[in-house]
Amino acid sequence: MSHPIGLILPFITAVVIITQSEAATSFTVFSAEQPAIPTVSTAGSLVPGKSKIDCAVRCAVVDYFDCAATVYLPESNSCLQSVLKQAEFGSVPPDTVVFRRETDEPISQRIIQSRSNGSLSFQRTWSEYEEGFGDGIDFWIGLRSINKLSNNLTPRTLRMEAVKWSGALYVAEYSGFVVGDASINYLMDYGSYLADRSNTSADSLAHHKGRVFSTTDRDFTSMSCSNSSGGYGGWWFNGCSQCNPNGVYFSTRQATPGKYFWASVDGMYSLKSIRLVLLP
Ligand SMILES: *[C@@H]1O[C@H](CO)[C@@H](O)[C@H](O)[C@H]1NC(C)=O
Ligand SMILES: *[C@@H]1O[C@H](CO)[C@@H](O)[C@H](O)[C@H]1NC(C)=O
Ligand SMILES: *[C@@H]1O[C@H](CO)[C@@H](O)[C@H](O)[C@H]1NC(C)=O
Repeated sequence: MSHPIGLILPFITAVVIITQSEAATSFTVFSAEQPAIPTVSTAGSLVPGKSKIDCAVRCAVVDYFDCAATVYLPESNSCLQSVLKQAEFGSVPPDTVVFRRETDEPISQRIIQSRSNGSLSFQRTWSEYEEGFGDGIDFWIGLRSINKLSNNLTPRTLRMEAVKWSGALYVAEYSGFVVGDASINYLMDYGSYLADRSNTSADSLAHHKGRVFSTTDRDFTSMSCSNSSGGYGGWWFNGCSQCNPNGVYFSTRQATPGKYFWASVDGMYSLKSIRLVLLP
């Protein structure tokens, strides 16, 4: 059986671990357990739901910023959700399975991309960029998930955080960040670069605003931007890039074509680490 966002649910007696792909371990991991653990009382809120798995998936992806624990209520075909991961759902039957967020990542942010180690290759196909990949340190959560989290109905703030090889951290924020679905090739758009909340020297994402996603096996640029100049990675390329967090990771500062960089942080030089974070 497959479901819309391709999560897998290996059942191990009472414990269920949800990850977003077989390779990815750094994503939101939820455990499922009986309610008999230390809990906090909460009223919770109800959203429509079709099954235990549906409720878990909603909590882990679609309703990420509103849900840290959830249970399925079959009588009303709904999911009871709480922002507290230790929520107590007092009124549910005793054998109900509660899905709880395990990550310590605060509910107020969602890391969608991270590079700090470099062992994991980001030279991947369209379908891998759609589904997501990761090694527990470096990861890309996937275009499908990014679209579920940030779309026209729920635009988010995007925060880019990059560290140069000197150790200096630079931040850039964008309002109204949205990524379309597969039918428009995950077109990316945003409202504005929030200069007063950023300390990058300019807006390097502007060059990519309104572009569709490209990978080597599905390149919508006229210049094969995803190839050598893009490090054979995936991005919202546009002849070719002013920023490319998914390029090749180098363990020193260098300007080699294909490196991952963000022009308004350290020009055409590679960076030490970078991450992209969604805020509600
Ligand atoms: C990446 O992680 C591996 C395994 O933990 C480690 O041996 C290596 O030094 C790390 N590389 C960097 C650049 O941090
Ligand atoms: C940029 O802003 C961030 C967040 O406010 C801050 O932590 C960092 O030190 C600043 N970087 C520089 C180089 O001033
Ligand atoms: C880009 O790379 C892909 C995958 O390696 C290859 O199939 C394609 O022919 C390349 N395109 C160009 C213009 O080199």
